[in-house]
Amino acid sequence: MGGGLDTNMTTALSFFLDMLLYPDIQHKEQIEVDSVVGTDRLPEVKDIASLPFIRSIVTEVLRLHPAIPMGIPHAVTQDDSYNGMLIKKGIMVMASVWYALYSILYILGFSGGVHIHTRHMLHDPEVYPDPMDFKPERYNNDDAEMQKVINLAFGFGRRACPGIHFAFGTVYSIVLTTLATCDILPALNANGDKIIPSVKYSSGNISFPEHFPLHLKTRSSKAETLLAEVATVP
Ligand code: HEM
Repeated sequence: MGGGLDTNMTTALSFFLDMLLYPDIQHKEQIEVDSVVGTDRLPEVKDIASLPFIRSIVTEVLRLHPAIPMGIPHAVTQDDSYNGMLIKKGIMVMASVWYALYSILYILGFSGGVHIHTRHMLHDPEVYPDPMDFKPERYNNDDAEMQKVINLAFGFGRRACPGIHFAFGTVYSIVLTTLATCDILPALNANGDKIIPSVKYSSGNISFPEHFPLHLKTRSSKAETLLAEVATVP
């Protein structure tokens, strides 16, 4: 439950936040979805195979806002070395995938010092120019490039996320269904001005965007009917 709920939830919320901040990208996505899915049916997960830009969008959400920014603690099962540094058996290793730093944080024998070694990961400006900008086009629709992000966002080694396929099924369903049927728009304040949220995330193991309002507007009466059909419990 812990692994599967909050991770999916924060990834979906980050998607909505990015769509509010980048309406042009939202529009471009909708054109792709319309061209593959049409407007007479709801999308299905299998449609994703024909939607490279949507795959890029979800990858970019995972890159910009990884659900578990500091990963989950691992322990070294045998003595190892990295860049000439000894990493002793039993030492705890945490990989910071979010920060513009790659921190191997190891606690010597759990009682000694803490060492932070820095190297860039998901926000590496050399690999991902303008790393804090949402730019799905940076992958050039190349799944091999997207896979490099996925390899970091879902953890490492034998303890890597076992729910990855379930996660993609859920996130793709939310992203695709929303884009096919709705416009994701800013909410309005009492003066009728758009509320553009700022990007603020909680600390903690699983990081969430701070609460932000939005307005989901169905794109057509047909879309409304399609949604109502699946929302009706027989
Ligand atoms: C976007 C969604 C998700 C993301 C980004 C994500 C990411 C991660 C990450 C980074 C880890 C730590 C891996 C490591 O120790 O190196 C993890 C572990 C785990 N995840 Fe996910 N996860 C997601 C969804 C899910 C779902 C849907 C499930 C279950 C249905 C799930 C179940 C688990 C479990 C059980 C672990 C612990 C595995 C272990 O320690 O052996 N996750 N996940």
